Amino acid sequence: MAKQDDVFKKLVSHCKEYGFVFRSSDIYDGLGAVYDYGQMGVELKNNIKKYWWDSMVLLHENIVGIDSAIFMHPTIWKASGHVDAFNDPLIDNKDSKKRYRADVLIEDQVGKYEEKINKEIAKAKKRFGDSFDEEQFRATNPRVKANEAKREALHTRYAKALNDSNLEELRQIIIDEGIACPISGTKNWTEVRQFNLMFSTEVGSTAEGASKIYLRPETAQGIFVNYLNVQKTGRMRIPFGIAQIGKAFRNEIVARQFIFRMREFEQMEMQFFVRPGTELEWFKKWKETRLNWHEALGFGNDAYRFHDHEKLAHYANAATDIEFKMPFGFKEVEGIHSRTDFDLSQHEKFSGKNIKYFDPELNESYVPYVIETSIGVDRMFLSIMSSAYTEEDLGDGKSRIVLKLPAALAPVKLAVLPLVKKDGLPEKAREIINDLKFHFNCQYDEKDSVGKRYRRQDAIGTPYCITVDHDTLKDDCVTLRNRDTMEQERVAIANLESLIADRVSITSILKKLNK
Ligand code: GAP
Repeated sequence: MAKQDDVFKKLVSHCKEYGFVFRSSDIYDGLGAVYDYGQMGVELKNNIKKYWWDSMVLLHENIVGIDSAIFMHPTIWKASGHVDAFNDPLIDNKDSKKRYRADVLIEDQVGKYEEKINKEIAKAKKRFGDSFDEEQFRATNPRVKANEAKREALHTRYAKALNDSNLEELRQIIIDEGIACPISGTKNWTEVRQFNLMFSTEVGSTAEGASKIYLRPETAQGIFVNYLNVQKTGRMRIPFGIAQIGKAFRNEIVARQFIFRMREFEQMEMQFFVRPGTELEWFKKWKETRLNWHEALGFGNDAYRFHDHEKLAHYANAATDIEFKMPFGFKEVEGIHSRTDFDLSQHEKFSGKNIKYFDPELNESYVPYVIETSIGVDRMFLSIMSSAYTEEDLGDGKSRIVLKLPAALAPVKLAVLPLVKKDGLPEKAREIINDLKFHFNCQYDEKDSVGKRYRRQDAIGTPYCITVDHDTLKDDCVTLRNRDTMEQERVAIANLESLIADRVSITSILKKLNK
């Protein structure tokens, strides 16, 4: 684990050093759980958003996008259940005075049993080699069996406590499992209390009678309250979806792990409206579609797993997370929820307006059921960066840090490097950029040796570099260097655009999804 923590620390400093992510308000020593994206970060983030948006809106005839306001009528949050039920169970350690989420402490403990099991398996795999039978080992090894039994028992007890909203039992589990505060090391815990996560502010001046409004904790409600506007004006027929990307705000108490849990973050959500009774079929379909979207990035299919929810949110009849193998373990990146007709029915009730859909095929009106796919841009960013960050040993005591980003997501696609700062090479390099900059993000760099310039581009994940040398002036060819293989080939300037554009375009990944 120490090694993993080390990698994570290095990743965080790499993000700062190369202009990906900065602490918000850095010169004022930062603001807890709020971050800014720098010149490289914003490009990567925009590319992630484009990949998601295009996969939804371009690839599906029946999905359209919207951009709703962050401020919404306060009754929306009463109707959605967020005012009454959008809570985290919190517990304080009396010695360190640190506050934790009780559910997170317990889930980490479940993770520890899993870790122990995995370690035993990894050891045995190494010992037995090809003849290793994991199933048999799990069924017979006493240490694995004991840890599996402990994990199962804890899991069942925890799921029940969550489902019953039994705060006393959550505390008792923490005591019985001997969970200690990571800061003080003691087990001196307070009671568990519920804490609402919504930020509120006031709209209007006090003289006019200001009223309390909330910063949205999810973008989904903006879609629900617009669903009929979009359906009618877009002549949409069920099944259809509405996609949205936007900021969301949560007063997270346990804000940790860099941009994993933030107070201001961005979501990419899609609500898919279906006929009642068909929702579980669609749920299954969207689980598959979304997993494919992740896997198409090429980080290896074993980096992902589904995690079905122990406790269903107040609006759901099925829910799962797509978890990604972060440096600190498998963690949720995306939620897929079958939200029933809960939200729309609530808005119908609270607004007093009829928001039923008329189904011309059935010749009847009903409140549609909804499947939601909801992914955090920032978590996706973190998962991509942590997979891409590679320290490579090049032999002879040399090494490099390279971000092996999918080319389509890389902030800069091509660096143009004149071999020397004279003899007309910079001018030639500028000429090449002036042509290619219309097609993709290019960077010009003439400072330091070519080797150093390659390293700088590796560190920001630029998939291609071209070197303009004296021969270029004669043969109109350049040396094209591949980031991952470091192989070089000579290519004609005239062919550069078609050669690179295809490999770095988002279309190249989208095509994998459309098979
Ligand atoms: N509309 C459903 C919804 O908001 P959620 O599971 O609470 O569901 C969806 O959030 C996704 O939003 C998560 O999978 C995660 O990627 C992202 N997310 C949630 N809270 C976050 C936070 N505090 N910081 C960063 N991302 C967050």
